[in-house]
Amino acid sequence: MSDPTQGRVTPSAPIQAAPGVRDILPDERGRWRRAEGAAHRLSRAYGYREIVTPVIEYLDLVVRVGESTDIVQKELFVFEDRGGRRLVLRPEGTAGMVRAYFQGGLNQGPQPVRLYLLGPMFRGERPQAGRYRQFNQFDVEVIGDASAAIDAETIELSLRWLEACGLRGLTLQLNSIGDQSCRPAYLERLVEYYAPLAERLCPACQRRLHQNPLRLLDCKERQCQPLKAGAPDIVDHLCDECADHFDAVRRLLAEAGIDYQLNPQLVRGLDYYTRTVFELQDPAHGGAQNALGGGGRYDGLAAALGYTPTPAVGFACGLERVVALMPADGEERASGLFLVGDGPGLEPALAQLGRLARTAIDTTVDYTSRSLRAKMRAADRLRARYVAILSPAGVTARTVTLRDMVTGDQEEVAWDQVPEKLG
Ligand code: HAM
Repeated sequence: MSDPTQGRVTPSAPIQAAPGVRDILPDERGRWRRAEGAAHRLSRAYGYREIVTPVIEYLDLVVRVGESTDIVQKELFVFEDRGGRRLVLRPEGTAGMVRAYFQGGLNQGPQPVRLYLLGPMFRGERPQAGRYRQFNQFDVEVIGDASAAIDAETIELSLRWLEACGLRGLTLQLNSIGDQSCRPAYLERLVEYYAPLAERLCPACQRRLHQNPLRLLDCKERQCQPLKAGAPDIVDHLCDECADHFDAVRRLLAEAGIDYQLNPQLVRGLDYYTRTVFELQDPAHGGAQNALGGGGRYDGLAAALGYTPTPAVGFACGLERVVALMPADGEERASGLFLVGDGPGLEPALAQLGRLARTAIDTTVDYTSRSLRAKMRAADRLRARYVAILSPAGVTARTVTLRDMVTGDQEEVAWDQVPEKLG
């Protein structure tokens, strides 16, 4: 048996993060907190309750989402438990939330159930800008309501959240992809249209033509674009019920003052959608290639997972992509106290004064023996609002020099006055 501790890395090569994952460093974390804070606040404002589901699920749960989707075909992180059951790191949150809705008995309570989740997802994609193998989503689902008003409400919430994150100039792309009663006939028309053109399609589209023709409309390859332009539009082939639903969604969005672009070629990457689909894009940063979020109605998913058929709608936004576009205001503001010693042997006094100051203000104690100058530079780089300089004489007199790093004012303060001064 091979020894898993025998790595192939030479001992001298420092170990790097795995491809496609990233650290969120402290300087960035402020923006993350603001984005997450706005997600919690707005979700609650719209009546959503937080749910946390495991990142590990049975492979079957994800496969039922659609065997022909790219995610299931080539992007899953799959592993076996000791009993040989195949598990997966979840590539998205919707299927797990629907499972939890039934398994946790939420289907027995008042309907619909509005849920939101913040957490990591995993897809083995080719890493590139804005595309990671571990990334975080803000995921919102309403389970147990088929009405168009819920579609419009989730779309509104997604936009409010992106606005609360400070993002502007976004576009909302909207489409309806019908349901089981009208989509099959449309797909036949689509295949009829594409079949004679098959040789001119990219290799992926040649496969899609047989496996998942709807995704032909989603192709980004240049050679497929002119062919796509002539394809029949699904909105022209909706059954009456789907057409009425779509009209109602559009009316409600207009009443809410929400602008959207009808995009008859928007089909989304997951197979579970029915009727409304939408995507939030930033035209200035990659547009469709790097959508900030997307979602839609998925009335067939519960049944595909083996549960009672239950209508549902939702969306998910990618936090990495959203945070990358957020303005960095607020983080630069100086805060807290940096407490330094000017001389050797001051550690006990620094620790004691640190405990006292901490009752009033966030306090970092510098126990290093570097020069006072270097300590002041560190305080500056850490954006401390105040620096307190303790000297051996100050230990005897129980006083400390307090410097306001913003105004430059400096004064001698008795230790027991420190909390009051800084509180
Ligand atoms: P999705 O379009 O696959 O939908 O992902 C939603 C968002 O997650 C994307 O718009 C993007 O911002 C982010 N995202 C996806 N993949 C990556 C990646 N590799 N790196 C960074 N960010 C990424 C879903 O996941 C559906 N579950 C949405 C949904 C909820 N539909 C109904 N309810």
